[in-house]
Amino acid sequence: MRIVLKIGGSLVFKDKIDVDLIKNVSKQIVSLSKTHEFLIVIGGGAIAREYIGALKDIGKDDTFLDIVGIEASRLNASLFIGALGEHAAVEVSKNFNHALSAIHLDKIPVLGGTHPGHTTDAVSSMLSEFVGADLFLRFTNVDGVYDKDPRKHPDAKKLEKISHGQLLEIVEGTKAKAGVNTVIDPLAAKILKRSNIKTVVCGKDELLSIKAVLEGKHKGTEIS
Ligand code: UTP
Repeated sequence: MRIVLKIGGSLVFKDKIDVDLIKNVSKQIVSLSKTHEFLIVIGGGAIAREYIGALKDIGKDDTFLDIVGIEASRLNASLFIGALGEHAAVEVSKNFNHALSAIHLDKIPVLGGTHPGHTTDAVSSMLSEFVGADLFLRFTNVDGVYDKDPRKHPDAKKLEKISHGQLLEIVEGTKAKAGVNTVIDPLAAKILKRSNIKTVVCGKDELLSIKAVLEGKHKGTEIS
């Protein structure tokens, strides 16, 4: 299978860089790469939000904030370039052609953001479309897709399996602002729907057993 794996920046860097997690995940990917092709996208996480917040207070515009968010995500991505060693492309891919070329050279591409105006979820969905991925696997600090925001509504229900149309309904109306944290970027939901890309959304704990998730043994949400 060709798999786009997105790891939320908040899992990689919350209060500090989670070196153990980065090493663990990289080891799993190297091992699973014998039977699957992986393209990795890393989010901006706390470091992006910290810089975006400060620059917002300073009065900078949203495009400037987005560019800084992209830089932060690429910094997080470089941690995986380091941990994957010779298995990874030599540098963080800044565009999809570079990522696909790395695959052709038998290397694992790692990306952060690409352009202002969206999130690394949108990058992941566009990349999935571009490389014809069989699966988009997304790990973040929310362990699945809920019928409403679980951080605001204690009675929110996790959905086991939904359609792309249902996902779009859930995320529609979300405001596109730099650093805003939602279930999934609405642009990503649209792209996943138009290309009918199978997607699995899981939480941090399941990142420790990617093989099980690939076998369908997970507590997250499947979108198909
Ligand atoms: P993300 O919102 O993608 O970070 O990027 P994230 O780590 O996935 O979020 P969590 O932690 O898992 O919830 C951070 C910010 O960088 C800018 C946006 O402002 C985004 O909110 N960005 C990122 C872009 O403008 N373009 C990109 O391609 C990527």
